[in-house]
Amino acid sequence: MAAIDRSEAVSTSAGTGARRARVLTGFRPTGPLHVGHWFGNIQNMLALQRERDAFFFIADWHALTTDYEDTSRLQENVRGLVLDWLAAGIDPDAATLYLQSHVPEVAELALLLGMLTPISWLERVPSFKERLRDLAEREIANYGYLGYPVLQTADIAIVHGELVPVGEDQLPHLELSREIVRRFNRLYGDVLVEPRALLSETPLVPGTDGRKMSKSLGNEIGLRDAPDQIRAKVSRMVTDPQKVRLGDPGRPEVCPVFALHRRFSEDILAETDAGCRSGELPCVRCKANLADRMVVQLAPFRERREELEALPGTAEEILAKGSEKVRPIVEETMAAVRDGMNLG
Ligand code: TRP
Repeated sequence: MAAIDRSEAVSTSAGTGARRARVLTGFRPTGPLHVGHWFGNIQNMLALQRERDAFFFIADWHALTTDYEDTSRLQENVRGLVLDWLAAGIDPDAATLYLQSHVPEVAELALLLGMLTPISWLERVPSFKERLRDLAEREIANYGYLGYPVLQTADIAIVHGELVPVGEDQLPHLELSREIVRRFNRLYGDVLVEPRALLSETPLVPGTDGRKMSKSLGNEIGLRDAPDQIRAKVSRMVTDPQKVRLGDPGRPEVCPVFALHRRFSEDILAETDAGCRSGELPCVRCKANLADRMVVQLAPFRERREELEALPGTAEEILAKGSEKVRPIVEETMAAVRDGMNLG
């Protein structure tokens, strides 16, 4: 597990004068951010932009690996994601925010890395087969989909990303990136930086049906959902299946509603737990308590997001500034790559 960095060993925080490690993460623009992203990714990104040299980019080409047929919402999703980030507190002055397709050299590097990447390495990535199965109806057994990790490696290597925040499930992807970079450097000289995983705790945030909150499962509560939408979704949430009748004792540890209480209801957590166990707290009341808190705590996001929506050109401006910031880094990397490979 040498590749995993849980400590500050490689980098020091701002203010000590030492260089901060460059951290990079990409987001596929698949739709509005939801509560699962808020706790799973955004909190982490807010810390990273304070403590590291953070690069956050929108992986619009990666979105095409599974959603290449209908691209009609792509632009809107990219723009929406930038505004969602801003509303959540991601700061374009603290972090570098850019769009993958604004950096065409990423495609060039992916093509070159593809030359030295064995197909067997790609087929071995566990998520490859799993997703093929999950998305069986979608016909994604394509060249681009197989190459997903190569493109991801190019994303990282082109800006010399040193640390990549990943959940446990993404570790094989990163291990593959490290192998590709090592092979490149062995063949053409020490050009690329070997990235390391920054293992992040990704808390399990359940959706309304109790499974992990995810847009593709349709069980999400959006950060921008209106109060009545939040109330309606929470009221329909599944609960402990053994708590059937009013007065039945419940088990908070298996209840998805309680899992969300843990995130939103510090003020009443103990009494919610006790009331559920004794059976005195009806689920309807318990859900209303949760919805009240979600509505209040998501309100600042919703308001900032509405304000940003009213300022035309904001997302475009931020992405344009971001590509200017990455351009010199990308050009330098690619000059060294072409040179190392004896390309013109
Ligand atoms: N694979 C990431 C996702 O599932 C997106 C991504 C693309 C990425 N390129 C990356 C993440 C590079 C980290 C580094 O959304």
